[in-house]
Amino acid sequence: MLDISINPDQPATEIYTELTSFASALVDGEPDAIANMANISALIWQYIPDLNWAGFYRVQGSELVLGPFQGKTACIRIAIGSGVCGTAVATGQVQRVADVHAFPGHIACDAESRSELVVPVVKDGAVIAVLDLDSPRPDRFTQEDEDGMVGLIGAIANNLG
Ligand code: SME
Repeated sequence: MLDISINPDQPATEIYTELTSFASALVDGEPDAIANMANISALIWQYIPDLNWAGFYRVQGSELVLGPFQGKTACIRIAIGSGVCGTAVATGQVQRVADVHAFPGHIACDAESRSELVVPVVKDGAVIAVLDLDSPRPDRFTQEDEDGMVGLIGAIANNLG
């Protein structure tokens, strides 16, 4: 539906600026969080290389519950505090994991995953969900990826819950 041309040779900061403006346009005026998470997962999956999973988990009580995603089927419920995603919610901090095998309690939904980036989605001061990105490449996610995804999620968080 939305056709954007991103040149992969651009600096990462420019790619994320463009991706964030397209993400904002995609969710603009749409209050349904599930629909928006579905489109944002697809947008990231299409334009960010070397991912084997991209999607959301939503905070439901004391658990995270699988939301819209792209990639292989995944575990449905994760206790807050468990794994990389649950740690991101418990701490409210981005988790950028260079080697998932070295992360205590990492939950392996896809055995191919080697590195992971989890960004909390904060609305009205509370973590309502996480964006989870997995890569089969060790140390795939840079500080620029972290900053870019934090900016993207921050720009659209009000339409994700
Ligand atoms: N690896 C995550 C679980 C979710 S899957 O990667 C899709 C974790 O440890 O929380």
